[in-house]
Amino acid sequence: MLDFNFYNPTQIVFGQNRLGELDQMIPANAKVMIVYGGGSAKKYGTIDKVTSALGNRSVVEFGGVEANPEFDTLMKAVETAKSEKIDFLLAVGGGSVMDGTKFISLAMHYDKEASDILFHGFAGVPSSKATPLGCIVTLPATGSESNSFSVVTFNEQKYPVMSPLTFPKFSLLDPDFTITLPKEQIANGVADAFIHVIEQYLTMPVDARVQDRMAEGIMRTLIEVGQTTYNDNENLEARKNFMWSATTALNGIIGVGVPHDWTTHMIGHELTACFGIAHGRTLAIILPYLLKERKQNKRAKLLQYADRVWDLREGSEDERIEGAIAKTEEFFNSLDIVTNLTHYGIDDKGIEKVLSNMEKMGLTALSETQDLGLDVVKKILVSAK
Ligand code: NZQ
Ligand code: ZN
Repeated sequence: MLDFNFYNPTQIVFGQNRLGELDQMIPANAKVMIVYGGGSAKKYGTIDKVTSALGNRSVVEFGGVEANPEFDTLMKAVETAKSEKIDFLLAVGGGSVMDGTKFISLAMHYDKEASDILFHGFAGVPSSKATPLGCIVTLPATGSESNSFSVVTFNEQKYPVMSPLTFPKFSLLDPDFTITLPKEQIANGVADAFIHVIEQYLTMPVDARVQDRMAEGIMRTLIEVGQTTYNDNENLEARKNFMWSATTALNGIIGVGVPHDWTTHMIGHELTACFGIAHGRTLAIILPYLLKERKQNKRAKLLQYADRVWDLREGSEDERIEGAIAKTEEFFNSLDIVTNLTHYGIDDKGIEKVLSNMEKMGLTALSETQDLGLDVVKKILVSAK
């Protein structure tokens, strides 16, 4: 196992009918800005419930954060938050709203141009102050509710933003707030969470037994409850397990002390930036082809994955590996996610656009061994046609 530090200060409040506890989690004298998305939280009454749970606190609302949140929209929120002297931010939404709120919390105090926040990647934003924030999750998928990471779109590119200051103080996970999700968002969420686990697991063995078994447990759970939640909106226990899987997939715990390979995410982000395909869906398109391409590099872990996640123990090593990759793709297809680029209208010209964007973003040495260049990305994309 590799050395690691683990820090995750976010309090999780999980379960139905717990909104009343907001009162203890947000300072009584706080001036709160509720941040929400394109309108679902307003339309389905979540914002009204949240506002009433905030009691006598002074509350400002900022709506209109789009999926894949845009820098310009978030800067409007920053202006409002500064002029209203907001001292607590409350995100009510999915990954886009939670991520956007993290950016707002940093940008309210940043002493350089706010766009500079976007250019520090995984090294982290050099920032010493952020407005405290909490989250009310309406879409289980990204794990943003329990990590310090966010993704912001600027000039048609997606930029990763890291800062320990943006861990939410708390996140409330009530399955009732997710019941209005359209089916395709459930599918996207299941795929996103599953692939978060894969990218921290399917690399090379380092004898990290706790992390491996937790990762396998989350994946098996997602396989069990993903389809159930997708097909049966009333199944609350499945939905709860899906929600907690999505949080644990990216709250840092399974990723400590192990190599990571975020190649699928890096390619997926470009498919969203260039063609507007939803985040989770982009990953499901790419992953099966990436695994086929990197079969030799990931051989030992793929065999473990075949055995412990898909119960494939018969046949030759190659048969088991191919079987596990096929099962993975079938799992995404069972959620009605089509896993080829042509279906989304992406041709050779589109592939070239993705490659040139990745080059501009410096995404040229990817994978757990940093030897996956754009030539390999091209092979993956061409095979995904
Ligand atoms: O905007 P509204 O009207 O609220 O509609 C949203 C949006 O259209 C809708 N929705 C959310 N909750 C709903 C609902 N509709 C009905 N009922 C509800 N309860 O769902 C649509 C998608 O929402 P969005 O927040 O964009 O989806 P998701 O949670 O998948 O977030 C995607 C964003 O997160 C980033 C992605 O890059 C993307 O920008 N990521 C963030 C990560 C992180 N912070 O750790 C990691 C991820 O890998 C990912 O990159
Ligand atoms: Zn993701």
